[in-house]
Amino acid sequence: MNICIIGAGYVGLTTAAVLAELGHEVHCIDQDERKIRLLNNGEIPFYEPGLEELVTKNCNYLTFSGRWDYIKRAAVIVICVGTPPRPDGSADLRYIEAVLERLAATVESYKTIITKSTVPPGTNEWMRTELIRKGMAPHLFRIVSNPEFLREGSAVYDMFHPDKIVVGLEPDDDRSLAVVQAMYAGINAPYVTTSLTGAELIKYAANAFLATKISFINEMARICDAFAVDVNDIARGIGFDPRIGPHFLRAGLGYGGSCFPKDVKALEHAARSRHVEPHLLQAVQSVNATQLDVCLDKLNQVLAPLHGKKIAVLGIAFKPNTDDTRFSPAEALIRRLSEAGCTVAAYDPKATLTSPLANVKQVRSVHEAIQGADGLVIATDWDEFCTLDWSEVKAAMNGTLVFDGRNCLDRLAVEQSGLRYMGVGRP
Ligand code: UDX
Repeated sequence: MNICIIGAGYVGLTTAAVLAELGHEVHCIDQDERKIRLLNNGEIPFYEPGLEELVTKNCNYLTFSGRWDYIKRAAVIVICVGTPPRPDGSADLRYIEAVLERLAATVESYKTIITKSTVPPGTNEWMRTELIRKGMAPHLFRIVSNPEFLREGSAVYDMFHPDKIVVGLEPDDDRSLAVVQAMYAGINAPYVTTSLTGAELIKYAANAFLATKISFINEMARICDAFAVDVNDIARGIGFDPRIGPHFLRAGLGYGGSCFPKDVKALEHAARSRHVEPHLLQAVQSVNATQLDVCLDKLNQVLAPLHGKKIAVLGIAFKPNTDDTRFSPAEALIRRLSEAGCTVAAYDPKATLTSPLANVKQVRSVHEAIQGADGLVIATDWDEFCTLDWSEVKAAMNGTLVFDGRNCLDRLAVEQSGLRYMGVGRP
């Protein structure tokens, strides 16, 4: 199949590389010339495990440019542009609009247009109307909604092993499902077919539900602290029930990243636009927005006054195995510590601090970060932080506090080396 991917972000690029690996001829268009130059040199503009190898391996079937005329040759067009949040929480669709403009001006023969970008309910239907309004003949295209569920850090694996493939179709479309199935031939997953808007809402519902699980366990962590119970025991105890499941029940600094905060807000906004009051979504966000306060209070209990203290923060990325710092709770915590007058030495294996902060220095190793520290905070659960030699850490630090902001450490191992362990909901 000849496929054109629009947008070379982490979704577009992962999709492009995997579709090329599946045997398709793939061209990826992006307006960012610097990105295209990098990609044509075999370099990936961000860190995503396994992606560079896959792009390099398939370089004969995977090309990159900023040229829209490639669309003419493609049977399938996959839209993977960003839909960032507007200040009011709604999704900004300006990149989708720009794509529609180009499609209307370029398409001359039949295309299956697949939307992978996360878009608010009703957007795909609107896209069809817009394309027709811009002069595209209705019989020249079908719109398909095919949201992605890729996790950063394991996007390549997730693309090859999805737990489902969601396909939203126009009501009278009897040919696009076969096109999508041919595109994903070689990938084994159940298909969930629904309407265009149904598929859009599945994506939002999935992310909102996962965010709800995290806020739920973070609220339980607060209750656990009050009753001197370990929240990890609670997560384990409830997780055996198949109706609940063991995943996404790790209490910590709260959820971040480019998807959860934006998508929960966008769903809230969409609900209100139809006069539905989203009580639960509001509560989920309110727990998340106050989770750092809870963690800072805990730090303050032991280290007060925070002002003037030297804190080692391990982790800057919003989660491990990525260099992404968008809406990163780790970076937000570093900012709060800086505002509280702490001196911070921050280390992350891949991520870089977005902007300079008073008395914050990014260092190049754990070793450097912990020298003379009054307290150590695990802000991102990278594997290398979970398996530190705690005796060495103790010897390098000035104080003894280890605050496990991701509940990922072996508490006994930390305590046995003479350090003081403090987790989230782990009194
Ligand atoms: C998420 C969805 O998982 C994915 O399906 C969707 O397509 C995009 O959004 P991602 O943003 O890569 O993926 O991150 P994810 O692994 O879901 O983690 C999101 C945030 O939740 C991170 O900040 C993580 O640290 C936090 N988290 C996750 C917790 O605090 N506790 C948990 O138990 C799990």
